[in-house]
Amino acid sequence: MSVEKEDSTGQHSTGGDDTGKAETSKLRMENLTKQFGRIVAVEDVSLDIHSSEVFALVGDNGAGKSTLMNMLSGVHEPSKGQIYKDGKPVNFSNPSEARDNDIETVYQDLALMDDLDIATNIFMGQFPRTGFGPLQLIDWDETYERAEQIMMERLGRDLDIKTEVEFLSGGQRQLVAIGRSLAFDPDVIILDEPTSALSVDATRLVQDTIDTLADQGITIVIVSHNIESVLKHADRIGVLFRGSLVDIKQPEETDLEELNELMTTGTLSSGRLDD
Ligand SMILES: Nc1ncnc2c1ncn2[C@@H]1O[C@H](COP(=O)(O)OP(=O)(O)OP(=O)(O)O)[C@@H](O)[C@H]1O
Ligand SMILES: [Mg+2]
Repeated sequence: MSVEKEDSTGQHSTGGDDTGKAETSKLRMENLTKQFGRIVAVEDVSLDIHSSEVFALVGDNGAGKSTLMNMLSGVHEPSKGQIYKDGKPVNFSNPSEARDNDIETVYQDLALMDDLDIATNIFMGQFPRTGFGPLQLIDWDETYERAEQIMMERLGRDLDIKTEVEFLSGGQRQLVAIGRSLAFDPDVIILDEPTSALSVDATRLVQDTIDTLADQGITIVIVSHNIESVLKHADRIGVLFRGSLVDIKQPEETDLEELNELMTTGTLSSGRLDD
């Protein structure tokens, strides 16, 4: 493999395209930088996300993961750099513009309405409607039918869609948030995993779901705090350190120890590099 280790300026070659496959670029980030006042949260990140891959982004707290994702989902505009979707330059000044380009985001805090049921949460703000003009009403039959379809057919989960979200487990809540993103029929889903540790079962549930979506051809970019799970499920793993993308690894060429070292120091002690 050909990881390029770099100079002390923190500039790194981050193509990571050494899989030998002719990959199509679903999302391309070119020299993305985001500054908040004097804080450079993301610095000069260039990265290609391939079509239908699961790309995991890892890094310490404050490394810039959410900020990078927020640029892809239209929450923040880059201070510098350019995003491309399917090869086309795109500029998002708000999340609905990212949504118009079939990019959906599941946020770190999930933002679910606890006292409402699963179906209502999935279609909140974009309910199927019936009738015309000022006489339009929410089509509840259609809402429940489509919510059921999303849960059963897209996510493969037999959850009662009339259950209030407050009664769900952490993993199930995450599923509802993913279900909500599917309601917009995206081809890219960005997930910023909750920092609060999910249980082992919940993590498995979410990971299985991500595998299912990837099988359906959706490109997944996931910020994950669970390195073991990333090693099992991701196609590639990008490591952010203090705003810079310091490496891209394939799971089979790295391990927990190496990723932890990269995450905490931004580099690998000599001897671990294989080039
Ligand atoms: N809206 C903002 N205004 C000012 N500074 C910000 C803002 N958002 C993020 N930052 C700063 O940018 C840096 C990167 O933050 P970010 O939230 O992207 O990190 P993260 O990798 O997602 O961390 P975590 O794992 O804790 O979620 C931090 O120093 C943070 O304080
Ligand atoms: Mg974050």
